[in-house]
Amino acid sequence: MLNQGLRVVLLALVYALSVHASSCPPRCECSEAAQTVKCVSKDLQNIPTGIPGYTKNLFITGNQIDRIGPESFRGLENVTTLSLSNNRIFEVESHTFSSLRNLRSLDMSSNQLTLIHPEAFTVQSRVLRELNLSRALYNHSSVTDLTTALRWSTLGGLQVLDLSSNSLIYLPPRIFSHLGSLRRLQLANNSLVAIYNDTFTGLEHLEELDLTLNALKTFQEEGLRELEHLPRTQLLLGENPYTCTCGIESFATWLNGSQSRVGDMEHVVCAFPADLRNTSLLTVGELALGCHRAGEGDNLALQTSYVFLGIVLGFVGLMFLFVLYLNRKGIKKRIYDMRDACREVWEGYHYRYEIDSDPRLSQVSTSADI
Ligand SMILES: *[C@@H]1O[C@H](CO)[C@@H](O)[C@H](O)[C@H]1NC(C)=O
Ligand SMILES: *[C@@H]1O[C@H](CO)[C@@H](O)[C@H](O)[C@H]1NC(C)=O
Ligand SMILES: *[C@@H]1O[C@H](CO)[C@@H](O)[C@H](O)[C@H]1NC(C)=O
Ligand SMILES: *[C@@H]1O[C@H](CO)[C@@H](O)[C@H](O)[C@H]1NC(C)=O
Ligand SMILES: *[C@@H]1O[C@H](CO)[C@@H](O)[C@H](O)[C@H]1NC(C)=O
Ligand SMILES: *[C@@H]1O[C@H](CO)[C@@H](O)[C@H](O)[C@H]1NC(C)=O
Ligand SMILES: *[C@@H]1O[C@H](CO)[C@@H](O)[C@H](O)[C@H]1NC(C)=O
Repeated sequence: MLNQGLRVVLLALVYALSVHASSCPPRCECSEAAQTVKCVSKDLQNIPTGIPGYTKNLFITGNQIDRIGPESFRGLENVTTLSLSNNRIFEVESHTFSSLRNLRSLDMSSNQLTLIHPEAFTVQSRVLRELNLSRALYNHSSVTDLTTALRWSTLGGLQVLDLSSNSLIYLPPRIFSHLGSLRRLQLANNSLVAIYNDTFTGLEHLEELDLTLNALKTFQEEGLRELEHLPRTQLLLGENPYTCTCGIESFATWLNGSQSRVGDMEHVVCAFPADLRNTSLLTVGELALGCHRAGEGDNLALQTSYVFLGIVLGFVGLMFLFVLYLNRKGIKKRIYDMRDACREVWEGYHYRYEIDSDPRLSQVSTSADI
C-alpha cells in the first residue's frame, strides 16, 4: 500500500519535473516572471519547439538558423518582441509571422535574406510597429523581393523601418508607398547614388529620414522634389561624397533655404574637389565653382557656329567636285584645245626661231625682201 503510494508520488514528481523541463526548450533560458525566452549563440539550426505560451519577448539570436516559415512560431500569440538577428536566414516564407498576433517589433538585422516571399511580413491587424532589416539583405538584388514584400505584407501600421547597411544602390519607385504610418526610415550606410521620382511616395507621416553614409554626390531636381514632398521630415544628409563642381548650385541653394530641416548640417560638406574638401555646402553658393553658365553658353554657340561653317564649306567643296565631274568631257576637250593651242604657239615660235637662227635662211629671207 505504502509502496504503491510512494510510487504514485514519485511518478507525479517525475511528471511535474518533465513538464517543467519541457516548458523551456533545450539550450534556451526562460523567465516566466519576465515573460522572456532567450536562445542566444547556441548553434541552433531551427527555431526550437516548446517555447512557452506566456513568452512576450523572444530572442533567438546568434545561431545558425537559415530559413523560417509559418510552422516556426505556432502558438506564440503573446509574443510582442521577436529578435532573430545574427542568424543566417536566407529565406522567409509567406505568413511566417501570421500566428504572432501581437507582434509589435521584429528584428531581423544581420541576416542574409535572398528569398523574401511576397507576404513574408504579414501580421494580422496591422500591429507590427517596428521592422529592423539592418544588414539583413544578402546583396542589392534582394531589393526586388523586399519591394514586393513591403507592398503585399499588410504593414499599414509600421512606424519604424531600418534598412541601413544593405548595399542598396537605388530604391525602386514607390517602394514605401504602402507604409503610410511610417515615422522613421533608416537608409544610412548604403550605396545610394541618387534619389529619383516617386522614391518617397506615400510617406505622409514621416518624421525622420536618415540618408547618411551613402554615395550621394549631389541632389538633382528630381531628388530635391522628393525631399520637398516630405515637408515635416527631419533629414540627415551628412557623410556623403558631395562633389562641389558645376551642377551642385541648386542643391546648395535648396540647403540654404532648408536649414531648419537638416539635422546634421555641419556634416554636409564637400568631399571633392580636394581644395574644397570639408567646405560647408552652405558657403559653396558664394564660391566660384568655375562654371559661368553664360560664358559656357557663348562658348557652345561659338563651337556650334564653327561646326556649321565646316559643314557648309565641306558641302560647297563637294558641289564643286561634283560639277567638275559632270563637266569632265567638256573640260577634257578644253584641256586638249588648250594643249593644241599651246603646241601651235610653241611650234610657231620654234619655227620662227629656227628661221632666225639659220644664216642661210635669213639670207634668203633678206634677199627675198630685197
Ligand atoms: C497569453 O497570455 C494570456 C494572458 O497572460 C494567457 O491567458 C494565455 O494563456 C497566453 N497564451 C498562451 C498560448 O499561453
Ligand atoms: C537595428 O539593428 C541594429 C543592429 O542590431 C541596431 O544597431 C539598430 O539600432 C536597430 N535599429 C533600430 C531602429 O532599432
Ligand atoms: C546577388 O547574389 C546572387 C546570388 O549569389 C547573384 O546571383 C547576384 O548576381 C548578386 N547580385 C548582385 C547585385 O551582386
Ligand atoms: C556599413 O555597412 C557595412 C556592411 O554593409 C558594415 O560592415 C559596416 O560596419 C557599416 N558601417 C557602419 C558605420 O554602420
Ligand atoms: C520626374 O518628374 C518630373 C515632374 O513630375 C518629370 O518632368 C520628369 O520627366 C520625371 N523624370 C523621370 C525620369 O521620369
Ligand atoms: C575634414 O574634417 C574631418 C573631421 O571634421 C577631419 O578629420 C579631416 O582631417 C578634415 N580634412 C581636411 C582635408 O581638412
Ligand atoms: C541664403 O538664404 C538667405 C535667406 O534665408 C539669403 O539672404 C541668402 O542670400 C541665401 N544665400 C545663398 C548663397 O543663397
